[in-house]
Amino acid sequence: SVFDFGMIGLGVMGRNLLLNMADHGFSVIGFDKDSTKTGALESAATPGTTVKGVAELATMVQLLQSPRKLMMLVPAGQPVDDVIESLIPLLEKGDVVIDGGNSHYTDTVRRVKYLREKGIHFMGMGVSGGEKGARTGPSIMPGGDKAAYEKVRPMLEAISAKVNNTPCVAYLGTEGAGHYVKMVHNGIEYSIMQLISEAYALLQHAGLDNDRLHQVFKTWNEGALQSFLVEITADIFLQKDDKTSARLVDVISDKAGSKGTGKWTSQDAMELPVAIPVIDTAVAMRTISAYKEERVEAAKIYNKPVASFNTDTETWIKQIHDALYFGVIISYAQGLAMLHQASKELKMEIPLPEVVKVWRGGCIIRSTLLEVYMKAYSASPDLPNILLNKEVANLIENALTNTRTVVAQAAQSGIAAAGIMSALGYFDAYRTERMPTNLVQAQRDYFGAHTYQRTDATGSFHTVWGE
Ligand code: 6PG
Repeated sequence: SVFDFGMIGLGVMGRNLLLNMADHGFSVIGFDKDSTKTGALESAATPGTTVKGVAELATMVQLLQSPRKLMMLVPAGQPVDDVIESLIPLLEKGDVVIDGGNSHYTDTVRRVKYLREKGIHFMGMGVSGGEKGARTGPSIMPGGDKAAYEKVRPMLEAISAKVNNTPCVAYLGTEGAGHYVKMVHNGIEYSIMQLISEAYALLQHAGLDNDRLHQVFKTWNEGALQSFLVEITADIFLQKDDKTSARLVDVISDKAGSKGTGKWTSQDAMELPVAIPVIDTAVAMRTISAYKEERVEAAKIYNKPVASFNTDTETWIKQIHDALYFGVIISYAQGLAMLHQASKELKMEIPLPEVVKVWRGGCIIRSTLLEVYMKAYSASPDLPNILLNKEVANLIENALTNTRTVVAQAAQSGIAAAGIMSALGYFDAYRTERMPTNLVQAQRDYFGAHTYQRTDATGSFHTVWGE
């Protein structure tokens, strides 16, 4: 028999994506050296679908319809290059190879060029939505060769999440663009998760227990904050621990892990440069979370301030709601501003209206707020920052007073809320017509003769200061 699509690597994501394809009528074949994984693939297939698992890469390639379409879902880095090397002698001109993992976009750019010389189309593709998303409808962020995209488009559209019947997949730009967009998606993911955790700390400050926290997040998820991350947060507070009688969240260590994509976003933002301080803060907070022993020590040295807190609980909940909403708006704004800038600098031709369309469903950062963003970018696709959109400006204005109150209260009470503080700091700088950086320019010229520009004349100037 001849198969429509092949998958290399049958871990959780590879297996579930392949089964999703089979559920949509494609005949699929998966390769993994580990026979328990090929077995797991076949036994999880929906009856009546065509799914085969093999332990030889060459066997899989031979059984694919030409031009071959195959995807790899293996750990980022060397494993991807290893798979490419073992594939090259087996493939023919015109075949399409997709890397669906979280590869760094610079690796993808390199691989696209390498395989193009051999006549093979290589596409970097971000996939978001975790295990369940992969099986039932992920958000898919492909980039690379447009002609290659057209070859796999029907399959990607079939398996992707849908919002109002619109598939959450689109061609997102040249070469490494798909992985670039996925990287920034993850930066925003880090940012929103950090802000939610701060909201959690601030709500606990008012004495809310897990049941009440569940209710608050559940209610929030029914309003403007409707999103996957708020939804799962509500669930988390109810989860009981198997070992103790406690709620699971209370017995989980506060050291947060990370696989690196958030860090990449910050690193690349610095390179461009573009300012994404809330995402940077989120990365930093995960790093600080690992300093457990030092924090225990420091907690003994520095007492938490005893601040008066006399806001009634309902008002406080509403204020935190608005601060979180504000922070979420800013998180997307920073990520999207980064994509805008990167698209130009790195010539990736990333279409922002399509990016927000794809993010509306299936992915970790899906939310109703993205509907507003989609409208904004449809009207002006080249907007450098979503904060310049009128409708977004209205949302910001409505949340601003409460955000300032929450930031002030957090500062006075000594509650670490660096994400929300950073969001407000960024916003206040962004809306400042004349920043105090004229002084920085003067200092640079004073000690280093770095020159400065004047407000009333063109050209560069230097002064011999202090004389
Ligand atoms: C997704 C996620 C996913 C990512 C994890 C882990 O969109 O489905 O972004 O791709 O790998 O969230 O990220 P960290 O381990 O870095 O937190």
